[in-house]
Amino acid sequence: MSVPFCSLKYAHDQIKYEAEKAMEGVYRRGQFILGTELEAFEKEYAIYCGTRYCVGVASGLDALYLSLHLLGIGPGDEVIVPAHTYIASWLAITRTGAKVVPVDADPANMLMNTSLVKKAITEKTKAIMPVHLYGAACDMSQLMEIAKKNNLYIVEDNAQGHGATWKEQKTGSFGECNATSFYPTKNLGALGDGGAITTDSKELAESAISLRNYGSTDRFTNPVLGINSRLDELQAAVLRVKLKYLDEWNGLRRAVAQTYLTQLKGVGDIILPTASYASVYHLFVIRTQYREELRSFLFQKGIGTTVHYPIPPHLQGAYSSMRFKKEDFPVSEKLAETVLSLPMWPGLDDGQVEWVVRQVKEFFEGK
Ligand SMILES: Cc1ncc(COP(=O)(O)O)c(C=O)c1O
Repeated sequence: MSVPFCSLKYAHDQIKYEAEKAMEGVYRRGQFILGTELEAFEKEYAIYCGTRYCVGVASGLDALYLSLHLLGIGPGDEVIVPAHTYIASWLAITRTGAKVVPVDADPANMLMNTSLVKKAITEKTKAIMPVHLYGAACDMSQLMEIAKKNNLYIVEDNAQGHGATWKEQKTGSFGECNATSFYPTKNLGALGDGGAITTDSKELAESAISLRNYGSTDRFTNPVLGINSRLDELQAAVLRVKLKYLDEWNGLRRAVAQTYLTQLKGVGDIILPTASYASVYHLFVIRTQYREELRSFLFQKGIGTTVHYPIPPHLQGAYSSMRFKKEDFPVSEKLAETVLSLPMWPGLDDGQVEWVVRQVKEFFEGK
């Protein structure tokens, strides 16, 4: 049996007719940038997140960068970010000219360790960037309290958390300005690159609308230096269709996660992710010291897996000038050595999940 690590086929087959109709509509109308589909999607996604505004941009990285920039963050400032995250969270901070201040992961949930956040605050700190990694929400009660006490902004990286909640509130709605990605494999994914900023502030939303479009107010008036970062009409049209199915697809992810959680409990040295109905399981990430061996065993059985992420940002060449060294963030480094993402996508059927479970068990029986 073949179980790909990720497949969009089920979801795309389900919406084929609607998506093609939506794309055909854009094609027929002939407006491809900044049109009615984007406007409608922005309204619908804001409602979904529980924020007053949403501004579509070209990618998650741009959404993160613009969110920080909109808050006036730049050279001389510091932003606290998890050491265990995708490098894009860091790159956005670096692009503003601010300094990246990493904090190690909490071994219990693999997310930003909130008790370390307090210790990382200096007089230069301007913002905290919680990353809802793998689809699980960070402890937003504690982080909001720390931010409030220390007069800091929160900018959530919600690229992996579409639909996740913390105490019934959607992630991506806590901070002043929050960012998400619509990279195709995300829980809400476009058919290309895309991203969005969500905020309750009219002023920030209006500035974002200007900044994403060369800093213009109207076509030939540019009061500020902007960039070109727009979510195009074709992507917005498809995202509007997909948004209607997001909760259903997240439900399917949760069901797969539930089977993994019950069936893999106590198997070998596996550490399972925290069981949470509020997680949207963008990825299902187990930990094992036999990661590489297990990976190749599963590969031979037709099961695709991935590692998110094998090299932490602080040990990447891109950050060599910051002179981080091994052991600086031991929990994150250990995660980089032991995490393994099992197949996870809406439409993964019971037989496939059972096959994955059976093969993982078989591997550990030989240990
Ligand atoms: C946690 C996280 N932040 C940021 C990004 C960047 O998003 P994009 O690829 O749309 O630039 C991604 C996705 O790749 C991500 O997983």
